[in-house]
Amino acid sequence: MKPVPAFLATGVTVAAAVFALAFISNRALGDSARQATEDERIERGRYLVHRVGMCVDCHSPRDEKGEFIPGKHLAGAPIAFAATVPMPWMPVAPKLAGLPAGFTAEDTVHFLMTGERPNGRPAALPPMPPYRMDRKDAEAVTAYLRSVAPSVAQ
Ligand code: HEC
Repeated sequence: MKPVPAFLATGVTVAAAVFALAFISNRALGDSARQATEDERIERGRYLVHRVGMCVDCHSPRDEKGEFIPGKHLAGAPIAFAATVPMPWMPVAPKLAGLPAGFTAEDTVHFLMTGERPNGRPAALPPMPPYRMDRKDAEAVTAYLRSVAPSVAQ
């Protein structure tokens, strides 16, 4: 068998190394790009929850002065007001931190888009607003709720 010329062997080694490096850095880039997208989604969700949907207003407990209790955001809370006419009403807003009990991420997205709860449970009663978010916003809110430590609920 003829020996492989040195330049050819070197060329193949260099090509393999370049390929491997490109592969590794591409994967690393992919990971950080994915992380950036997830961070952006969580930030958008935080904005929707705290500044637009005002979920915190009903779903977070307050102290006797009406101030939010630090570290208890979205831990679930009694509703502090009542309807002035007889109507369907749920006086407690459940925990959302970490995701609502019994909801997967996709259940939460689906609920925010349609109002339908998982496992055939009846629709949420007032004063829960009947949000009909688009998928992007519903996914952002869900990503944010998921990122909030469920331990705040304890
Ligand atoms: C005006 C008060 C109010 C606001 C604002 C509000 N909620 Fe609610 N939410 C409620 C109440 C009360 C319930 C319980 C309804 C029931 O069980 O029939 C509820 C139920 C839910 C449920 C169902 C949870 C379960 O365990 O079944 C989810 C999910 C939810 N809210 C998410 C949100 C999100 C996300 C926002 C903000 C985008 C929000 N809510 C804003 C009062 C509110």
